[in-house]
Amino acid sequence: MEHPCSVVVRYYNSRMHILVLHGPNLNLLGLREPEVYGKTSLADIDRALHEIAGRRAASLAALQSNHEGALIDALHAARTTAHGVLINPGGLTHTSVALRDAIAGIALPCVEVHLSNVHKREEFRHHSFISAVSVGTVVGFGWRSYTLGLTALLDHLES
Ligand code: DQA
Repeated sequence: MEHPCSVVVRYYNSRMHILVLHGPNLNLLGLREPEVYGKTSLADIDRALHEIAGRRAASLAALQSNHEGALIDALHAARTTAHGVLINPGGLTHTSVALRDAIAGIALPCVEVHLSNVHKREEFRHHSFISAVSVGTVVGFGWRSYTLGLTALLDHLES
């Protein structure tokens, strides 16, 4: 007979909801500096994430915005509706105390991802305001940074 705890865990898993946020300029993925960010579009990335979420009995809502406030509003709304956040903050990574405070404020596990290896690039990309309020970060694997990040976030939530 199945242990009652595994039934509880399965029930919880089936209700796992993840907010995926894409920051400024990521709507241009596939067209924008493909030598840095690759040729995969944002729609393709979201499709891959939905596939993983489906296999893991999780649900996922994805939002891209070029506006800091819209990202912060989405984080606030996630406080009571999501279990975790996967975020590529784009350029706001290196500038936004407000985005960092929003992530800290909602107190949900967050994984930060970047397509490019920001540490191999210009010095201004080496610092992230988001890393200190994230469970972990995945950088440098192109679109796979997102799929690795989502897998890591779901593993973290289930553990
Ligand atoms: C990025 C890295 C940032 O430095 C840059 O501003 C981006 C994309 C990445 O995914 O590699 O917009 O977050």
